Amino acid sequence: MDIRTAIENRRSVRKYDTTAEVSPDLINDLLDAARLAPSWKNQQCWRFIVVRDPEKKKKLAESLYEGNPAVKALVDAPVVIVVCGDPDASGKLDGKEYYLLDTGLAMQHLMLVAHAQGLGTCWVAWFDEDTARSACNVPAEYKVVAMTPVGFPAKEPQPRPRMELEEMVYLDEWEKPYF
Ligand SMILES: Cc1cc2nc3c(=O)[nH]c(=O)nc-3n(C[C@H](O)[C@H](O)[C@H](O)COP(=O)(O)O)c2cc1C
Repeated sequence: MDIRTAIENRRSVRKYDTTAEVSPDLINDLLDAARLAPSWKNQQCWRFIVVRDPEKKKKLAESLYEGNPAVKALVDAPVVIVVCGDPDASGKLDGKEYYLLDTGLAMQHLMLVAHAQGLGTCWVAWFDEDTARSACNVPAEYKVVAMTPVGFPAKEPQPRPRMELEEMVYLDEWEKPYF
């Protein structure tokens, strides 16, 4: 699959085929794509936890705040990948914490390659960090940034709407129309 098609057709998948296993080779391919992402001074502050243990997946699902639509996805998908970042290993400038960008870029690589492999993912960030931390024994110096279920979709979600370029792109200065 070419990159443009992967970008256009990726969706946040929240319904998974509970019978279809995901091989270690496939997961390794996704992790390798994550590893190749750009990062602050190439510090690669990210760490990934591949969770297959059903009890740990359940505990991660319990860390989600009430109303989060991804709870069942974390239980049903055969794999959950948790991404953690070390804020001290990445940059901080003008209030911007770049470990969030580093981990986000790595996960976007992972999610696009997952889609190209026929797998579904869903970036999940609305959770109680302490509960997620204790589920996977993440040390205090790392932030638990996000997690994603990884599995074969049981249902292809509809595309979510996006703003038009006219609403977000300016020419030379703020609010001067580009288009
Ligand atoms: C920073 C961030 C946090 C998100 N947190 C959650 C979440 O906790 N639960 C969930 O179901 N989806 C979550 N999402 C997925 C978004 O809802 C989804 O990307 C958005 O609705 C667009 O849909 P699409 O990914 O299918 O294009 C998150 C996405 C991002 C980028």
